[in-house]
This record gives sequence, structure tokens and C-alpha cells, in this order.
Amino acid sequence: MGRPSACRRGAPSASEPARVSTTSHLELRGDAEVSADADYDFADKIGGKYDADLRWMDQPGDQRYVVTIRPRRVNATCTLKSCKSDGLAVVRFSRMPIHLRAEAGDYAPSVLCPGDPLRAQYIADTFFDPGFRQVNAERGMLGFTGTFEGRPISVQSTGMGCPSAGIVFEELCMLGAERLIRVGTCGGLQPGMSMGDTVIAIAASADDQTPLRYAQMEGFAPSATFVLAERAAALSREAGGGDVRVGSVVTSGIFYDPDTDAFHRWRRLGHLGVEMEAAMLYTMAAVRRIEALAIMTVSDLLGVDEPPIRISDDDLKRGVDQMMRIACRVAVS
Ligand code: HPA
Repeated sequence: MGRPSACRRGAPSASEPARVSTTSHLELRGDAEVSADADYDFADKIGGKYDADLRWMDQPGDQRYVVTIRPRRVNATCTLKSCKSDGLAVVRFSRMPIHLRAEAGDYAPSVLCPGDPLRAQYIADTFFDPGFRQVNAERGMLGFTGTFEGRPISVQSTGMGCPSAGIVFEELCMLGAERLIRVGTCGGLQPGMSMGDTVIAIAASADDQTPLRYAQMEGFAPSATFVLAERAAALSREAGGGDVRVGSVVTSGIFYDPDTDAFHRWRRLGHLGVEMEAAMLYTMAAVRRIEALAIMTVSDLLGVDEPPIRISDDDLKRGVDQMMRIACRVAVS
């Protein structure tokens, strides 16, 4: 998106590309003056007038400016609400995120989020309609945008673990994502689970400090958006095929956990699987007020007495394909 015509004075420099944020579209005609509103003096005043907390709406990295337009006429539609004023408007310039080198509009509102970049490529190749395009390759974190059965969809890899995934989830929110669906793998904890089973996580216990620190509330319970979990469960019942289980998972910060009894304790609490990103996703969704769901394929069996067993490549592909058929439909629903 191009630089808005209001950026004549006091706007971000050429090294800091300015653009109207995510869902905002602003056309300005007239002579404009732009000045930084770093302390939100003006934004707080306008927010009060419209009963909106502009500080809360802003994403990390956003900057507020006061734009004064002459002649005294402003037409603006923005994320807040349509507003007409007598010559003053508050607009938000967002910087391009650091790790997703994309612009607002490059991602669909609904984004599938695997950990593995090559799985992102596989998902786009296998499930998207022909004609999708790559929207990110920064740090090898591949992202693609296209359509699924004619409806807009994106896929963006997150890397492993809450810190990496949290950055990507946050930046997808900055870029306008409204629904994030994690599609990954988990270790199966409960007896009777098989390789390639699908797990729909209605809740994700945080056995990692990152989501809890981000929520800034002790005891916060990261949970899925109910309608998405319900839709995923209904779609998997209709599809038949492999086993689909709905319940809680635990998000661990450690893959090779030296506490060998931890799996047993989570199993005792009814958790279906262990994985490494869902609690971060659900926490981000709560903070940023978006929809979220995590769906996982069982790729390891973490039995009670036996040593862990790893899935074969064939079973993994079968399980991922089953999960993806559900996830793509939920994403565009
Ligand atoms: N631990 C954590 N995450 C995982 C595992 C596991 O055993 N298997 C797949 N994702």
C-alpha cells in the first residue's frame, strides 16, 4: 500500500515505510499537516469522545499521529468507525513487521499456522487452489496466500515453541489476521491413542512461561474459540475416516524434558497430547481479540511404561492430510 498523501511533514522517514494500518482506508485531499502524538494526548481525547480506547487497539510498533487537513474537510473510514470531523483526524501508521515482511492485505483474514516451513509449502501445494503466492520467506518462515475452494486463505509457518510462534502470531495480528488455526503435531498421552489421530484442542495448559507472561494474569486459562472447535468436531464426524479427539493439551517449553514424570502428571489430568505452541496461540487470541483453534496430528505415542514411539513418514502424511481437510474447511467457514 502506498504512502498516504497526508504524510508531508513529520511523517515517518523514507527508511520507515508508512502505510495505513490493516483494515484502514484513508483518502485525503487537501493540505495536510502531520505531527507525532507519542504521548497519546490527542488520541486519548478523541478516544474519549468516541468511547474507544485507542491505546488498547494499537499493536506494538504502531505510532499515533495527529493529522490536520485543510480545507476543513475530512473523510475517513478506519478500524474504529467512520468519522467525520471538522478538520482533525487520528490515523495510525503501522510499520512493516520485522519477521513477516509483508503489507496489510498480503494475508487473508484466516491463516493456517504450522510450525514447519516445509509443511506450509506442502499445505499450499496440496490444498490451496492453483495460483497462490508466497508472501513471506524471512528467516525461512515461509508464508503463502491464495484460496481454498474459492475462498481467501493463508498459511504461515511459526517455527517451534511459544517464543517463536508468539512473534509470528503477533505480527499476523498486526497485518490484519482475524482467525488463526494452528495445524501441527503432538505427542499422544492417553491410552488407546494411535499414530495419525487428530486432536482438537479446546484448551491448552501452559507449561511454559511465555503465554503466562504475555497474558499478565496468573491463572489465565488459554482456550479455543468455541465455534471453531465445534465446527472442527462436526466436520470430522461428517468426514469419518481416522479417529478425532476433542479435549485439552499441554503446551510445553521443553521437547527433551528431563522431568520424566511430567507426561504422567499431565496424563492424569486428562490431557490428550503435548505440543509446543497452542497455549501461546490461545493467549494471543484472547489479548488481541481474534479467533483461534489448534488442531494436531498425533506424531509420537508417549506411553505409560514403554519408551516413546515416533510416527512413520507414511502415517504422518495420512494424519496431516486428514487434519488439513478439516482445518482448511474451518478456516474458510
Ligand atoms: N513433545 C512436544 N511436542 C511435540 C511432541 C512431544 O513429544 N511430539 C510432537 N510435538
